[in-house]
Amino acid sequence: MFDVEQIRKEFPILEREVYGKRLIYLDSAATAQKPKCVVERMSELLLHDNANIHRGVHLLSEEMTARYEEAREVVRQFIGAECREEVVFTSGATMSLNLVASSWCENFLHDGDNIVVSHIEHHSNIVPWQLATERKGAELRVIPVDDSGALELDALDTLIDERTKAVAVTQASNTLGTCPDLATIIAKAHSVGAVVVVDGCQGVVHGGVDVKALDCDFYAFSGHKLYGPTGIGVLYGKRELLDKMPPYMGGGDMVDKVTFAKTTYAPLPLKFEAGTSNYIAAIGLAEAIKFLQSLNAEEVARHERAMLDYATEQLLQIDGLRIYGTTEGKAPIVSFNVEGCDHYDIGMILDKMGVAVRTGHHCAEPVMARYGTNGVVRASIALYTNKADIDALVAGVKRAVSMLK
Ligand code: ALA
Repeated sequence: MFDVEQIRKEFPILEREVYGKRLIYLDSAATAQKPKCVVERMSELLLHDNANIHRGVHLLSEEMTARYEEAREVVRQFIGAECREEVVFTSGATMSLNLVASSWCENFLHDGDNIVVSHIEHHSNIVPWQLATERKGAELRVIPVDDSGALELDALDTLIDERTKAVAVTQASNTLGTCPDLATIIAKAHSVGAVVVVDGCQGVVHGGVDVKALDCDFYAFSGHKLYGPTGIGVLYGKRELLDKMPPYMGGGDMVDKVTFAKTTYAPLPLKFEAGTSNYIAAIGLAEAIKFLQSLNAEEVARHERAMLDYATEQLLQIDGLRIYGTTEGKAPIVSFNVEGCDHYDIGMILDKMGVAVRTGHHCAEPVMARYGTNGVVRASIALYTNKADIDALVAGVKRAVSMLK
């Protein structure tokens, strides 16, 4: 059985205090805390085994290269990719999405084409497409969102046409928690030959992904939200697509042969891994994935859902509190405002009570504009969140409201 108190022991930070109070960490959608095994593995490697990968003939380099490639294999199996060539290590989801928007659009987006994004995307799945469409003279189209936070998929019939080249959509919104019906979006996009790029940052954490079953063309996520280190992320891409894309960055490790007349490139996935990769973090990410795989995914999901339901029910008892994002089956993220109180003020008061939440627009300004606000308070739930965390949040919000109103 899933034992949250046992799990919490793997995360020493949860034992610390802030302002003399127990830390209540409800900002895991921004970055999740790391289990001991991840940090210990990385520290052991840095202290005793460090050497650059893919370069040396010496033992340490060969050993580290093998560990890095093993990490790629762990990721490959975790997301269900067909082969290692389809798993590119990046610095994070932002780089993964920029890589596709830059490199894929370079060859496949033309004047008069269009790209479709949704209204609930994080800026990192909007701005790279905006840059690409501006560069190419293409149009950016937006799938609307309704009051509950659900995408209005009826609009796909008019938004997606024979000039649509890519559809970029999140697996789970970082503000509303909405998990769009990706199967419908992918089927529609593929019917006109468009590729689908999925931002898996929040989705991969809550339920994972099987990229082959989903049949998305690209999938991006960050290590640090998945209980792994910062500075590492993944871009999955179908091999035949990655093969046809030009390199994103030039430098060492991504080349086959360099002369001043012509350079040829390394085979996949190294073609997209210029420079020294964050190999220690890649191995740390694999460790985080193994940690997750040691748990029962269904029990984790059930626990997170129970925490989400409890938080929702308790928060809604507060007068004037509105939750943004009320769709069925949403990710365990609760964004809210309280009438007459500023989100930032609530966040500041919560902080003084030891409760860490995020406030503001959450890098999703179009979502905020859609609901007529400039920001919200967001509490995000992780596998280590317990009932006492939610009770502290609710008590904190009540206290904040009594002080602010
Ligand atoms: N994208 C991260 C968040 O939603 C930083 O907080």
